[in-house]
Amino acid sequence: MSEQQGFTLWLTGLSGAGKTTIAKLVEAELKRRGVKVERLDGDIVRQSLTRDLGFSKEDRDKNIERVTFVAKLLSRNGIGVIASFISPYQKTRDMVRRETTNFIEVFVHASLEACAERDVKGLSAKAFAGEIENFTGVSDPYEEPVNPELVLYTERETPEESAERVIAYLEERGFIPTTEKVARSS
Ligand code: ADX
Repeated sequence: MSEQQGFTLWLTGLSGAGKTTIAKLVEAELKRRGVKVERLDGDIVRQSLTRDLGFSKEDRDKNIERVTFVAKLLSRNGIGVIASFISPYQKTRDMVRRETTNFIEVFVHASLEACAERDVKGLSAKAFAGEIENFTGVSDPYEEPVNPELVLYTERETPEESAERVIAYLEERGFIPTTEKVARSS
């Protein structure tokens, strides 16, 4: 196979939309196919590289700017980057697109109601009770992607189905090897 092309698969959406779940499934499938990948996730990156930052617009932009620097280095060196960040601002996501190699904007769509109902981390309930300031979708903006390459509707697709759609897209674009089809005898 020819040398792997790097790419930046960028999952954006509300907290609880399913970004991390889908990112992990895609990561596992890509590794299974021998693709070199690195997964960058908001909750993890915010414990290290950007642990000094909060959730004001300025801090969110700084968070994404630093992650973009990492994604830029990796994607231009043949690594498939899977990034999952709320990244609520279109202008900032447009900056990531300009800076990184083969940027793919994936809108992980779920209504605020669905995210609040899932509330895996118990944050939504606190946000609605006014205990967390600047909570995306509740008391802070989320700008839906204007022209994303993919939209995953996690209220009507299973995580596996969403991940399969991402994989199919990466195959179509020629960024990853296709699974070998069983040769037909006829
Ligand atoms: S981003 O806006 O800067 O892209 P990022 O994806 O890194 O956000 O981090 C979001 C995660 O931080 C959420 O999944 C949630 O667990 C946590 N979090 C804590 N406070 C907030 C808040 N005010 N708004 C959104 N997410 C928050």
